[in-house]
Amino acid sequence: MAKHKLIAGNWKMNGSIAANDALVRAVIAGLAQSDCTVAVCVPAPYLAQLQMLRHGSALELGAQDVSQHEQGAFTGDVSASMLKEFGVRYAIVGHSERRQYHGESDAVVADKAKAALAHGITPIVCVGETLAEREAGKTEEVVKRQLAAMIHTNGHCISEIAVAYEPIWAIGTGRTATPEQAQQVHQVLRAQLQAATPHAQRVHILYGGSMNAANAASLLAQPDIDGGLIGGASLKAQDFLQIIGAAR
Ligand code: G3P
Repeated sequence: MAKHKLIAGNWKMNGSIAANDALVRAVIAGLAQSDCTVAVCVPAPYLAQLQMLRHGSALELGAQDVSQHEQGAFTGDVSASMLKEFGVRYAIVGHSERRQYHGESDAVVADKAKAALAHGITPIVCVGETLAEREAGKTEEVVKRQLAAMIHTNGHCISEIAVAYEPIWAIGTGRTATPEQAQQVHQVLRAQLQAATPHAQRVHILYGGSMNAANAASLLAQPDIDGGLIGGASLKAQDFLQIIGAAR
């Protein structure tokens, strides 16, 4: 079933008010020719700036994390209802950098997705294996475990999430999964979703990990790759727009 692809930029901890202004204006100017959904997931302090910059455009706004809690004594956390006030449509949850540096477990990531869904925000749930896990033949086992926690916690709402397969060894390394390697994992994830919901085809399964202007078209041509979660290349308007252009 053909569906619009989703191209989401993950700026990670990059940006400044001046740099964001130039980048977003250039991206919006180039969006007219695109026929996919495009979002940028920005650091929380810039949400208000982005809300203004994107006004009247097709650019969607995303956050890079969301609290699993509704409100209260959770210093440093940002709730889904707060994100919603800034027009946020997507929230990345369980990025490997959050799992690694902030000790986020599969269960916590699933709760974060649940909090996002409760406020009409689509969680972009990241899964992916380390190089050691891949070399030990454990890729499927790892991504299935990560997605299973999500299915367990979110039940019938599971068709409302997006998934991003991000092999950790491909993130920021310039070493991309081949289209065949990525498709193989995406197919496994799709089958797992299919067992949980009749609407699995609706779920965007994105690839992330050194996706760039040169490799985007071949990755995005795979039957179960419904878009990309782009790190470094989303910080340069021309590169990001080229990836968007490859998403037909
Ligand atoms: O979330 C995007 C990501 O981790 C991939 O980053 O820089 O390899 O595109 P990058």
